[in-house]
Amino acid sequence: MNGTLAIVILAAGQGTRMRSSRPKVLHELAGRPLLRHVIHAASALDPDEIVVVAGHGADLVRDAIRSDHLRWAIQEEQLGTGHAVQVAMPAVTADKVLILYGDVPLIRADLLKRAVAGVGPGRMNLVTIELDDPTGYGRIVRGEAGEILRIVEQKDADEATLAITEGNTGIICASREDLAGYLNRLKNDNAQGEYYLTDCIECCIDQGGRVEGILAERIAEVAGVNNKQQLNELERGYQLEQAERLMAEGVTLADKHRFDLRGNLKTGQDVFIDFNCLFTGDVELGSNVSIGPNCVISDSIIGDNVTILPNCVIEGARIEAGCTVGPFARLRPEAHLHDNAKVGNFVEIKKSEVGEGSKVNHLSYIGDTHIGQHTNIGAGTITCNYDGVNKHQTTIGDDVFVGSNTALVAPIVVESGATIGAGSTITRDAPANTLNLGRAKQVTIETWKRPRKRD
Ligand code: UD1
Ligand code: CA
Repeated sequence: MNGTLAIVILAAGQGTRMRSSRPKVLHELAGRPLLRHVIHAASALDPDEIVVVAGHGADLVRDAIRSDHLRWAIQEEQLGTGHAVQVAMPAVTADKVLILYGDVPLIRADLLKRAVAGVGPGRMNLVTIELDDPTGYGRIVRGEAGEILRIVEQKDADEATLAITEGNTGIICASREDLAGYLNRLKNDNAQGEYYLTDCIECCIDQGGRVEGILAERIAEVAGVNNKQQLNELERGYQLEQAERLMAEGVTLADKHRFDLRGNLKTGQDVFIDFNCLFTGDVELGSNVSIGPNCVISDSIIGDNVTILPNCVIEGARIEAGCTVGPFARLRPEAHLHDNAKVGNFVEIKKSEVGEGSKVNHLSYIGDTHIGQHTNIGAGTITCNYDGVNKHQTTIGDDVFVGSNTALVAPIVVESGATIGAGSTITRDAPANTLNLGRAKQVTIETWKRPRKRD
């Protein structure tokens, strides 16, 4: 019974209620398009083929979701879920077909495995859900022995059927040959004038087949997104789940309701994350890392015993053990702080190395720069790396002291042990162990009188 498996994902709808020009399945949950989440869950079953049915904004959807593993079917006109599957069938060759939805993002592989199990000729599975309020869902009509007979859509249901609280999730699995037969028999003589996939259930029963109900345990994993309110509910539910998973792994969160992860976060032991932090892409935190409130950290690796003070923005950076960063620091791609370096407030660092134990504590821009060990960069130091056309490199050695308000005009080398006087504009290399001044000499006029107000 373990034949080959195709997964068909319906994603042709416009999503009018999103009130957006973007196709619905491209709206994002946790920073990824809804459709990506579904493909991710589908891929976990290792199916032989995945077919996505696109329609509204098909080109946009294809461009956004680019993947070699997908087959695409285009449903030019949205004539109903049954019609959508029909459009996909020519691209399907596997023995069994599992139908999913591009706007049901939190579906999980374990439920999908249950949905596929036992399916074969004359036997299909239907995933259902018990609902407090089944409004909008197709209702599952069962016979006296509890066997599934058919699905009745909300708009086609009478009073008694509307009272049924078991709803259709839309997820079904059937043998390809059976499904093709059912689809050929669909009619659109219903309230919406659509070809309903749900009518396949009745077809199956009519032909002496059996439909097994698979009860989903959590509403969130079968919930569809139709509007921004629902999108937000799923987003918050998903974020809370991630926060709880991290806490289970030992992370201390100041507020699990004010934590967002749009990507992957790996953590060591005894990590503390204060409120309102956002992590995106792939972030690694070592042990004993403390992240202050209001930080945004993307695609970065942070070593053991690092303290990130409040309000930092860190992207594509590597911060080694024992560093302190912030408050209000900005680390841009390829900023690399070696052990015990310090970067203070209102400092921006881009594509630069800050050597072990070196400090850039206040109000500086460091770009395209290599700083050695135990060097002190004074407040307001700027590496002038851009001449308006090209970027140039600054090299600063070990044990250098750069006085405050210095402009280092790149390309330039400040050798180890050199000192730069405050307020200098340095345009020539500074040799080792020298004092370098690049500023106008001070003039003192002793006879000068302050102007007075005229009468
Ligand atoms: C459908 C089910 C209903 C179920 C509900 C669960 C049918 C007839 N009804 O209703 O029993 O309770 O889902 O949410 O199947 N789509 C296409 N092409 C089409 C029509 C739809 O790709 O021609 C896609 C939509 O983009 C959407 C999904 O299929 O992702 C469901 O379509 P929708 O019209 O929202 O179905 P419902 O009326 O909610
Ligand atoms: Ca509909």
